[in-house]
Amino acid sequence: MHPTERPRRLRRDGLRELVAETALDASDMVAPVFVDATADERVPIESMPGHERVPIAEAVPRVEEVLETGVEAVMLFGIPESKDAEGSRAWAEDGVIQRATRAITRETDATVITDVCLCEYTDHGHCGVLESGAGEPDGEADLTVANDPTLDLLGKIATSHAEAGADVVAPSGMIDGMVGAIREALDADGHDSVPILSYAAKYESAFYGPFRDAADGAPAFGDRRHYQMDPANGEEAEREVRLDVEQGADILMVKPALPYLDVVRRVDEEFDRPVAAYNVSGEYAMLHAAADRGWLDLEDVAAESLLSIKRAGADLIVTYFAEDVARRL
Ligand code: PBG
Repeated sequence: MHPTERPRRLRRDGLRELVAETALDASDMVAPVFVDATADERVPIESMPGHERVPIAEAVPRVEEVLETGVEAVMLFGIPESKDAEGSRAWAEDGVIQRATRAITRETDATVITDVCLCEYTDHGHCGVLESGAGEPDGEADLTVANDPTLDLLGKIATSHAEAGADVVAPSGMIDGMVGAIREALDADGHDSVPILSYAAKYESAFYGPFRDAADGAPAFGDRRHYQMDPANGEEAEREVRLDVEQGADILMVKPALPYLDVVRRVDEEFDRPVAAYNVSGEYAMLHAAADRGWLDLEDVAAESLLSIKRAGADLIVTYFAEDVARRL
């Protein structure tokens, strides 16, 4: 018996590269950077080996390290010097992200994407201002994020980032109407050429644990299930994404990445916009933890993870592996 089809013919060295359908490129990766207004030296993030919070004065050197690996874009997250109920340091002209963005865009060629959200800036840790009405009456369990009042604040944050020089703004709060509100605010302020990378389908995921240590943004009570998506839902992601497209989103992000590759694929197939995927902190931490025990080869699983995310349909990937993987390309 001889098989008529022999796919192995194309798997020989010298041929497999020629027929590879997907490839990783440093220019497709975005490296998250944490800038901490309360720090006067770099502080390692224990649950995210190799990552640290850097003081504002170190933002430029930190971004230069990223650029040296070939990665050209960074996603900035800020830890403010103080927090309040509204998160007012999020739109302050001298806020941590505004200062870091000004310095980075003045002194480097990096593409700066800023996270537009309130959870790192509010003293309660939720992604907007609060109102009662989540369900159980009385007490904290009844509080939830007030949708429309939060929209005005997101507009102010995005505008302040654009004024500081941000190349792209990335709203991550899953507030209904956030993309439209931000587009309107940006346009009214003369920033019509600043694109919006929307966290269009962001799930209420347990994979964000290490990030919440890194950015000090864990909710003080409750969780985010009244605004982030239910992991059970795939069809709903199409609706969420469609709404963001209608409101003017330029790039559509799915988050997390690996447990949601079906959603990445759906968004890529259904919409004619670039698709981003966020390979989140928990996806990073679990590979490190297994590699530490000698159970997995870190470099190999990191590269395979990112390749799989691209194969599923992502055009760009926000990932804590960006520098490590780019260095090896
Ligand atoms: C803030 C935000 C979060 C992440 C990115 N932006 C945390 C959250 O929603 O709790 C998570 C990123 C990660 O886990 O790597 N809205």
